[in-house]
Amino acid sequence: MGPLLSMKVLIIGNGGREHALAWKISQSEMVDEVISAPGNPGTAQCGRNLPDLKVEDSVGIVRAAKAEDVGLVVIGPEVPLCLGLADKLREAGIKVFGPGAAGAQLEGSKLFAKELLDRHRIPTGGWRRFDRAGAAKDYLENAESWPMVVKADGLAGGKGVFIVQSCEEACSVVDQIMEERQLGDAGVEIVVEDFLVGQEVSIHVMTDGETIVLMDPVEDHKQVGDGDTGPNTGGMGVSSPVGWLSQRVMRQIEQRVLIPMLHALRVEGIPYHGLLYAGLMITEGGPQVLEFNCRFGDPETQAIMRRFNSDIVPYLLATADGTLDKCEAPEWDSRQCVGVVMCAQGYPEQYRRGEPILGIDSAEAVEDVIVFQAGTRHDGHEVLTDGGRVLAVTGMGKNVNDARDAAYEGVKKIRWNGAFCRSDIGLRPKTLSAKAKA
Ligand SMILES: Nc1ncnc2c1ncn2[C@@H]1O[C@H](COP(=O)(O)OP(=O)(O)O)[C@@H](O)[C@H]1O
Ligand SMILES: [Mg+2]
Repeated sequence: MGPLLSMKVLIIGNGGREHALAWKISQSEMVDEVISAPGNPGTAQCGRNLPDLKVEDSVGIVRAAKAEDVGLVVIGPEVPLCLGLADKLREAGIKVFGPGAAGAQLEGSKLFAKELLDRHRIPTGGWRRFDRAGAAKDYLENAESWPMVVKADGLAGGKGVFIVQSCEEACSVVDQIMEERQLGDAGVEIVVEDFLVGQEVSIHVMTDGETIVLMDPVEDHKQVGDGDTGPNTGGMGVSSPVGWLSQRVMRQIEQRVLIPMLHALRVEGIPYHGLLYAGLMITEGGPQVLEFNCRFGDPETQAIMRRFNSDIVPYLLATADGTLDKCEAPEWDSRQCVGVVMCAQGYPEQYRRGEPILGIDSAEAVEDVIVFQAGTRHDGHEVLTDGGRVLAVTGMGKNVNDARDAAYEGVKKIRWNGAFCRSDIGLRPKTLSAKAKA
């Protein structure tokens, strides 16, 4: 006899985050098939792909979810969430992990998030809103301390935030965003924010709007070069848990940020069934919100899934159903996970695609190593590079050094023309003064 409840789960997206989710969900006793749309060669190892479905195609996704009679849809990326895919699935009577368009605005509009934070007195850096370049530049000309932070209001795929060191630089960024519209409609309005000094951490919670299930913290390495140098990327590597983050600060995060956010969503009448990701700066005065995301982080999810020891599907379903209060706290692997992202030469600028990748199997033969694919595609039996961030090699160990050793042992086995990665993932904390210079 099979398990009593046996269902199909549909995962939307095709990155490393979705491979990690597919890997974890496919281990559930409650699931007999994981379907990924469109998926990648990694998710294909965990189930079946629907390669022709685009994440923006909500009509097609609703149709596929019905035709396959899936028990749950998990939406990975922010774009379909902001387009209201979760609303459309729910209207069709399908269970879904992911907020509707109203909740997704927390990520889709930095202004929306900032206004909500201020209305509910949740700590975040001081800020001003501008819908005209001239007014923004006047304000920046009178700024008293540098750097400052200029953010495009809308979704910009990680390219909408500029830390500017001088008035001149700030004004040129304002022109690029607002006059030249280099980020399209994302730059119709901007937020100018005070620069916060501290240590950054990513906090993920699953929430149904009533209850939160806190996930272990993750540290992401955003800049492309060792020692946090060079331009920002989508994320070059992760480490979890975060050794320097004390229990006291975790309690502050819950009490000053997460619980007030839940309250804010409730009183504003915003239903939320999915993942709420708080990007935080831990400053001398405590945690400050940098931003919210309305979905799992990438590559944070790769580390979270490796350390999440409980079956994740009951949590995803309870989030969708609004019954998270019935769930016990999940069990976590007490070991450290380090995930190293391997990139294509040139990333985050122009890079080449279509390089054959060798050695994924040998990397996974290393004890405690799992490789999650992101920018890859199949060509016959070969796996080719098909993105800037190509894959993440995750290693586990009893401490950061052991986890790093495992991950980098795996990295050594993988080869393609132009592959590179950072060599210092997991090595933190950096000093506060180094951060201020960045
Ligand atoms: N107010 C701030 N002070 C200091 N650094 C910031 C500030 N806002 C953003 N950053 C830095 O810029 C990065 C990107 O900003 P974020 O708001 O997370 O935008 P996104 O992820 O949408 O690009 C953050 O991870 C952080 O390193
Ligand atoms: Mg961010």
